[in-house]
Amino acid sequence: MNGFERREIRAMASGRLEGRVALVAGASSGIGEATALALAGEGARVAIAARRLSRLEGVAARIRAAGGEALAIRADVADEAQASGMVEAVLRDYGRLDMLLCVAGVGVAAPFRNTTTEEYRRMVDVNILGVLYAIHAALPAMTRQREGHIVVVSSGTGRYIHPSTVYSGTKHAVGAIAESLRREVGKDGIRVTSIEPGAVRTEFTAQMRAEVRESVERRLGDMEQLESEDVANAILYAVTQPRRVNVNILTLYPTGQA
Ligand SMILES: NC(=O)c1ccc[n+]([C@@H]2O[C@H](COP(=O)([O-])OP(=O)(O)OC[C@H]3O[C@@H](n4cnc5c(N)ncnc54)[C@H](OP(=O)(O)O)[C@@H]3O)[C@@H](O)[C@H]2O)c1
Repeated sequence: MNGFERREIRAMASGRLEGRVALVAGASSGIGEATALALAGEGARVAIAARRLSRLEGVAARIRAAGGEALAIRADVADEAQASGMVEAVLRDYGRLDMLLCVAGVGVAAPFRNTTTEEYRRMVDVNILGVLYAIHAALPAMTRQREGHIVVVSSGTGRYIHPSTVYSGTKHAVGAIAESLRREVGKDGIRVTSIEPGAVRTEFTAQMRAEVRESVERRLGDMEQLESEDVANAILYAVTQPRRVNVNILTLYPTGQA
């Protein structure tokens, strides 16, 4: 058990999210995993979704061992039926949905001419359509409840231009979708937050081609990156504000990142 988990388990007693239900899409590793642990640490019942069920079951076991409640759901968010199926599973098992956290994402951090059309498709399918499908499935329940919080994990590349043209484009889209949606659904008591991290030390580069991964690693050098828990803390800040407060955008960068 690491320090973060110990802290979270202590926090569970205070339970700022007691009685709340969260769905974290993309919770099998990195930022999503840390976010699921942080939300559970505050007393939320947490559904966790991704493609790697065995990893999800490991996260769920840690939450349960710490006294929390978790539901692992295998889902590919780029598949509309699976994305809506994960929301339906949460509503069936937990009866409501207070927070939808769209964390799942893929990225090939390469210039346009060094990105294949298959990679464009994967980024658009997961980073844009995956977010839209999940929101589409979750909104009716949140509207009925007259309460809900949608958190999307965009990126610093969704605000500032970095040399990763298509990935950056998908994250700009996510930020625009979040802000437009916020204006549309706020009157229904639904909050929308976009989180924009700089470089975070996760498995994110593992899904990139070796050549791209090496160039990203060279670019980052020995700069100290954010930890997943830093981003989870930013998310926790947004979701624990009073209902009258919508945290629109949170941008956080490693201190050493230009
Ligand atoms: N690391 C960074 O520097 C950084 C910076 C800014 C923003 N971000 C964003 O942060 C988010 C999380 O990334 P991370 O850094 O935590 O990397 P990560 O450890 O690779 O996590 C990515 C998560 O997304 C899930 N995922 C990917 N494709 C999916 C799909 N089709 N369906 C369902 N789940 C899928 C993965 O699970 P499965 O593989 O099990 O499906 C995993 O849980 C991404 O949206 C990324 O764009 C990352």
